[in-house]
Amino acid sequence: MNKQITVIVGTQWGDEGKGKITDFFAREMDYVVRFQGGNNAGHTIIVDDKTYKLHLTPSGVINPNVTNIIGNGVVVDPKVLLKEIHGLKQQGINPQLLVSQRAHVIMPYHIAMDECLTGHQGKLAAGSTKRGIAPVFADKAYRHGIRMGDLLEPKIFKEKLEKSYNFNKRIIEKVFELKFDREFETIYHEYLGYGEKLKKNIYDTELELFNAFKFGQKILFEGAQGMSLDPDHGMYPHGTSSNNVAGYSEVGSGVGFNKPKKVVGIMKAYVSRVGTSPFTTELHDETSDFIREKGLEFGTTTGRPRRVGWLDLVQIRQAVRTSGITDITITKLDVLSGLPKIKVCVAYKVNGKITTEMPASLEAMRIAIPVYKTLPGWGEFDTKLKTKVKTGGYSQLPENVRIYIKFIEYHIKCKISIISFGADRNDTITRLSS
Ligand code: GDP
Ligand code: IMO
Ligand code: MG
Repeated sequence: MNKQITVIVGTQWGDEGKGKITDFFAREMDYVVRFQGGNNAGHTIIVDDKTYKLHLTPSGVINPNVTNIIGNGVVVDPKVLLKEIHGLKQQGINPQLLVSQRAHVIMPYHIAMDECLTGHQGKLAAGSTKRGIAPVFADKAYRHGIRMGDLLEPKIFKEKLEKSYNFNKRIIEKVFELKFDREFETIYHEYLGYGEKLKKNIYDTELELFNAFKFGQKILFEGAQGMSLDPDHGMYPHGTSSNNVAGYSEVGSGVGFNKPKKVVGIMKAYVSRVGTSPFTTELHDETSDFIREKGLEFGTTTGRPRRVGWLDLVQIRQAVRTSGITDITITKLDVLSGLPKIKVCVAYKVNGKITTEMPASLEAMRIAIPVYKTLPGWGEFDTKLKTKVKTGGYSQLPENVRIYIKFIEYHIKCKISIISFGADRNDTITRLSS
């Protein structure tokens, strides 16, 4: 990572392995920054047989020399954050963590509202993680949201909470006709308590990052979710409520860098999806069972079985374009090992017409038929092969893996420069090491 600024983004439906790759590069970084999303994200990182499960803390936390920042663009559930910090401490990690005073707070009524909304949206719902994400971003836009800094100012907090609490309670009870019986005073004191506990972490992170940048420190932005979940560029309305394309890294951290960045798009060797939406390459056969079981495709946040399907290059092409991706990381190549043939979607057929670009139309996405090319499979990434690849680099990958990689590069016009073939931090090579 030779650039001062690197941004990691998901190119599919999330869960591509962003956490693993962020951790892999964190050792070269001074700062790791989350800039959007909330605890709808879930990342699993494995280092030397130790497993870390993160939702809110940036995936730089396992590296003791990194300062981790939860930027202003993130929404924070302080209860979840405190639990996560506690869990990390129990695992021997004392995270260096700063939280923007401008980051919005997920309140209990946001979680209740999320439940109401999902029911209301029916077929158009995304199948939310029920963490209060859409309601908290809605309150931010309505301009009666609560920010982390407010938890340190009892008078201002009370003034704002009155607006936010009453608004949400009335909608839950009057529009959705459900009960929201958490008392105002109880919530007020509970959240002041969280503010007290997080006092040392709540900070002017925008200024901190600006100064770090000025002094030449290396900064890695860690995106949550993936391009198809982006509210502008994804498969709206089946997505999340914060932008996850790389351009949002400056909005969600408060620093205009005005400098070329390295943008790394994380791409699973196949596709997985939690939640509801059209999914053009979805599989419902023994291959999907094979991939789900071998790839452990069950959500880190919700435990839901992930839907799985073949790699979709229409989706990746759009991700490369919308985020200005300079490098692709391919993950989970080992999961496809053992399949005799592997399909890749290179275009869609919509009403008899071929398109290689993602349609904006939901109707088109509901009826799109994948156009596949079939490639040969490869054998297991056993310990012997992994050692060979880690010592010898790219050229030591099985020939059919290299064919797969070259095929993808040709179709998306972007280099695959990082290759991951196991969940452990060290089951990774960069192309330069070949
Ligand atoms: P994220 O949300 O993008 O950070 O991804 P998740 O952590 O939710 O899901 C990715 C899952 O795949 C995690 O359980 C990782 O440990 C695992 N993983 C990441 N890279 C690889 C890989 O190359 N091979 C295998 N087998 N597992 C991987
Ligand atoms: P990471 O960072 C996979 C999906 C949900 C749902 C939609 C909206 O681990 O890749 P929300 O709770 O945000 O209102 O849900 O977005 N979703 C994710 N799917 N990985 C994630 O994060 C996700 N975050 C949200 O399943 O379809
Ligand atoms: Mg995840």
